[in-house]
Amino acid sequence: MGSGGTLTEPPALSPTPAWTVLARTTSAHDTRAFAAAFADLVRPGDVVLLSGEMGAGKTAFTQGLGSALGVSERITSPTFTIAQTYEGGRVRIHHLDVYRLEHLHEALDVGLAEMIDDGAVVVIEWGDAVVPVLPADFLEIRIGFAPLDDDPASGDVRTWQLRPVGTRWKARADGLRATLAQWECET
Ligand SMILES: Nc1ncnc2c1ncn2[C@@H]1O[C@H](COP(=O)(O)OP(=O)(O)OP(=O)(O)O)[C@@H](O)[C@H]1O
Ligand SMILES: [Mg+2]
Repeated sequence: MGSGGTLTEPPALSPTPAWTVLARTTSAHDTRAFAAAFADLVRPGDVVLLSGEMGAGKTAFTQGLGSALGVSERITSPTFTIAQTYEGGRVRIHHLDVYRLEHLHEALDVGLAEMIDDGAVVVIEWGDAVVPVLPADFLEIRIGFAPLDDDPASGDVRTWQLRPVGTRWKARADGLRATLAQWECET
């Protein structure tokens, strides 16, 4: 784990994932339901990296996952606190938003390594900026805005590209695909 770099140029991720799943949600509510479906798939020790522009739905995803894991507290954006821990669900959640960090070592300063070793689920918004200090295994979720067309409702459509990095999620491909079937799309 190196920790000296800046966050200005995130490194490219592995170009050869074992599989990818493409999905689509059509509202924030739909995104929370989509995220809730991950509650049956995540395991203690998992790291989920969320990337996507401002307002893409990273926090909405975390809210859906958290409440499905049994967190009763309202999950809010940890933009200013950087990290927030939620207890009380079936697994502890560490929720980070690393957008404001300028150096990799700051991710370690807020305790990222300890959170990863904590047997919790670690969800990191803007997580591709801290890939060098992540473990070899994590699930990358890349959120896109669907292109706008004549339908005004298309502004609420988000696309979700899921891809595993490392082998930890490999055995979960079939389960993931089956669980997310109703959101899966081709492009
Ligand atoms: N399909 C959708 N999925 C998620 N959010 C949606 C969707 N459609 C509309 N929205 C709206 O987009 C916004 C998403 O906000 P959210 O805070 O989750 O984004 P974010 O990616 O965490 O942003 P930031 O980069 O500022 O942390 C909310 O206002 C939500 O209501
Ligand atoms: Mg957010």
